Amino acid sequence: MVEVSPVRTYETPTRLVHGIGALSTLGQEARALGITRPLLATDQGIVKAGLLDGVLNVLRDEGIDPVVFDRVKANPPIELVDEGARFYASERCDGLIGLGGGSSMDTAKGIGVVAVHGGSILDYEYGRAPIARRIPPMIAIPTTAGTGSEVTLWAVITDPDRKIKFNVGGTPNIASWVAVIDPALTVNLPPGVTAGTGMDALAHAVECFTMDYHQPFTDAVALEAIDYVGRWLRRAVEDGHDLEARSHMSMAAMLAGLSYGVDSAGANHAMAQSAGGVHDVPHGDLVGRLLGPVVEFNVPGTPERFARIAQALGKDTRDKTVNQAADLAVEEVYALTEDVNIPTLQSLGFSTDEVPMLAKIAFDDPQTVGNPRELDVGSYEEIWKRAFDTGKP
Ligand SMILES: [Fe+2]
Repeated sequence: MVEVSPVRTYETPTRLVHGIGALSTLGQEARALGITRPLLATDQGIVKAGLLDGVLNVLRDEGIDPVVFDRVKANPPIELVDEGARFYASERCDGLIGLGGGSSMDTAKGIGVVAVHGGSILDYEYGRAPIARRIPPMIAIPTTAGTGSEVTLWAVITDPDRKIKFNVGGTPNIASWVAVIDPALTVNLPPGVTAGTGMDALAHAVECFTMDYHQPFTDAVALEAIDYVGRWLRRAVEDGHDLEARSHMSMAAMLAGLSYGVDSAGANHAMAQSAGGVHDVPHGDLVGRLLGPVVEFNVPGTPERFARIAQALGKDTRDKTVNQAADLAVEEVYALTEDVNIPTLQSLGFSTDEVPMLAKIAFDDPQTVGNPRELDVGSYEEIWKRAFDTGKP
């Protein structure tokens, strides 16, 4: 089959500063952006881990006067973002710093959208009001290795009324101006968080490599991200202080984030994001538990691509047919999920009674579009049921 390439674009406005010790450059990076009074969005976990103090010191040493907004929680709701935007205005801030996992970085991006455009973050749900102007100068500092929010063109916000999570973005206007990626900030992450966030990075790369909208640039970064996760996630989970493993996982998360471009992901994220609005559980755990069943379902949609994923995951595909090689990708995703101890759906609080509802809301999620294999509500029920049957009891 001849693959004809239509006109496509790829754009990233984010300067990447990365490596062990990258945090020491934060003050200079902020000054270069003209930031003097940033709103720093973070959560209590970061405060208690002592990471916030280190960051504040680096900023103050450079004469920068940050305002701390430390009320971020996992799966940030609309009201939190709107409250942060009011705080940004009342404190007369001139820039943003997102310090933490995806929730803190997404909250900072959301605050930036509302600060510039007004209204509520709900107004900017993808498909509603456009994000016409760039958010204020923002620096993202990830403390996990997974979401890739430091480089993505998206923020994920929870709507408690509709019990869903929705996307804001799809434009470089929402992206962070600078990402300071210092793998040393991730060494104290507990194994469970390391595992879940690492599986999230893998899911981003797998979904973006196989989605209908993939393009050569996103293919390249996705494959390298998959390779890194395959080789380093188990080690990062086993020994959190293994800086080599942590460094590769930080890069995997960043590369997987870049593999999105302006597009969305696929069935795995359609399921995980919609279900994440039903039960307040870690995004990465849900993504990780669902990835194997989604990959298994999707293989017939694009077996050649899953065969390449098997290679990237280090499987020996010589002497294998395309379909046999693709099956090795399924096998390896399932094996990795168990090796890093991703919790079962039952232990995350889900029950099989919810399958029809979960299938319906996944189908309604906009990320269903672009999935490599056609699917309907019945397909989602099948995938959910399979996911309930996996994992150690
Ligand atoms: Fe994700």
